[in-house]
Amino acid sequence: MASAETYPVRASILVVDDDVGVQESFEAVLAKDYDLHFATQGPEALRVLSTQDVNLVLLDIRMPGMDGMEVLRRIRELNEQTDVIVVTAVKSLKTAVEAIKLGAYDYITKPFDIHEILALIKRVVEKQELMKEVLYLRDEVARDHRFENLVGRNSRMQEIYTLVTRIADNNATVLLSGESGTGKEVLARVIHQQSNRGHRPFVAVNCAAIPSELLESELFGHEKGSFTGAIATKVGKFELATGGSLFLDEVGSMRLDLQAKILRALQEREIERVGGTRTIKIDVRVIAATNRDLKKAVEEGTFREDLYYRLNVVPITLPPLRQRRDDIPLLVEHFIAKYNREFNRRVKGFSAGATAALYQYDWPGNVRELENVIERAVALAQSESISLRELPLDISILGRDMIEDIQKVGLSLRQARSHFEKQYILNILEKVQWNQTEAARLLGLHRNTLLWKLQRLGIESRPHALSA
Ligand SMILES: Nc1ncnc2c1ncn2[C@@H]1O[C@H](COP(=O)(O)OP(=O)(O)O)[C@@H](O)[C@H]1O
Ligand SMILES: [Mg+2]
Repeated sequence: MASAETYPVRASILVVDDDVGVQESFEAVLAKDYDLHFATQGPEALRVLSTQDVNLVLLDIRMPGMDGMEVLRRIRELNEQTDVIVVTAVKSLKTAVEAIKLGAYDYITKPFDIHEILALIKRVVEKQELMKEVLYLRDEVARDHRFENLVGRNSRMQEIYTLVTRIADNNATVLLSGESGTGKEVLARVIHQQSNRGHRPFVAVNCAAIPSELLESELFGHEKGSFTGAIATKVGKFELATGGSLFLDEVGSMRLDLQAKILRALQEREIERVGGTRTIKIDVRVIAATNRDLKKAVEEGTFREDLYYRLNVVPITLPPLRQRRDDIPLLVEHFIAKYNREFNRRVKGFSAGATAALYQYDWPGNVRELENVIERAVALAQSESISLRELPLDISILGRDMIEDIQKVGLSLRQARSHFEKQYILNILEKVQWNQTEAARLLGLHRNTLLWKLQRLGIESRPHALSA
């Protein structure tokens, strides 16, 4: 990134020394390559720092009034970006060590060697550029890992983010498909938020959760007395969502007669309340979601083909978690942070065995299930590291579907054997809290053999935090 050629901003240095002779010799050496500022006393130096953007301070220790150590302390309180090199005539290692402890980058002793100081300054400037680059990249990476409330950087998720950015604003009907717990509702909210309707209501209706006979009035509203129980006029969700978005969740479970009414509403952009005679103009963007294969439902005659095409203008399919396992560490980290906050805990990660189990498990309930597992584990955790014991049995039990998984990945027998061996050893180690002697006994191995195996399988001897 920023190198001297492409980034013509010169680094700036503040020289703090009460000896004008020292100031002049620094000027002679540095003025060509750096922007220089000078101060003869501590308070003056702090004033310069509060008004100028300074990369590096060359700081004398022995000065009248406020001494260099005190100035250093104040600089560290003031900001973190400015580095300090302590320049001292006192050839005392103690002073230097103290300065480093206080956060100085390095120290030089007077009389100084020109080459030494030039090399040191160069190193500081390069380090700062690198830090900037790291911070920048970290920021970029963080952006890539999330899309509003959606966590995930798997390529299929990235494609979804790109698509959503493109279509959020155009009012087109969106059909979200995907298994339960894959984040359809979260995504629907993101689409709404990103659209120009974002400041208007987002109204969600779960078509599967409301009895069919009530769903119509829920969606379209009803007039007073239109049926027994309709004691007052009710405004439906279509009207409530005016100007905003209507989320029709589990749209595949809607009865056929209601499907016809929805189709009409979408086509005519108007509705009638149940028992009403007025037509009411509607202005909503519909986002529908289904965990069923709607196309198949059309073939089976349980879903209207015309409504399917009407909804399916922008189809988005959320992948099941088992097809984006590479996102598991990110999601785990995200949910640990979430539930640490919620439960006021300090969980750092998962033990090696628990991590392996999280990877291996098939996650039929997708992200929702993962979130629940981590919520429970964080609540139960007895230390900073969550162990297998704190995971539900069906996850912690050694791979029920391991053989199937191994087949899918296409491992050779040798690879499969070592995979199994590793899982099994981890499992045993977890059980005995990493007591290797005990683990060796249970495994029927000599302790040395176990140690050798651990090394060969790349298993660390201590539990470690899960990292991305
Ligand atoms: N990509 C994701 N990043 C973060 N949380 C997610 C993600 N996908 C799902 N979740 C969480 O999982 C749970 C289920 O998501 P939801 O949108 O209700 O799934 P669906 O509607 O597909 O059944 C919610 O608590 C949601 O916050
Ligand atoms: Mg849902």
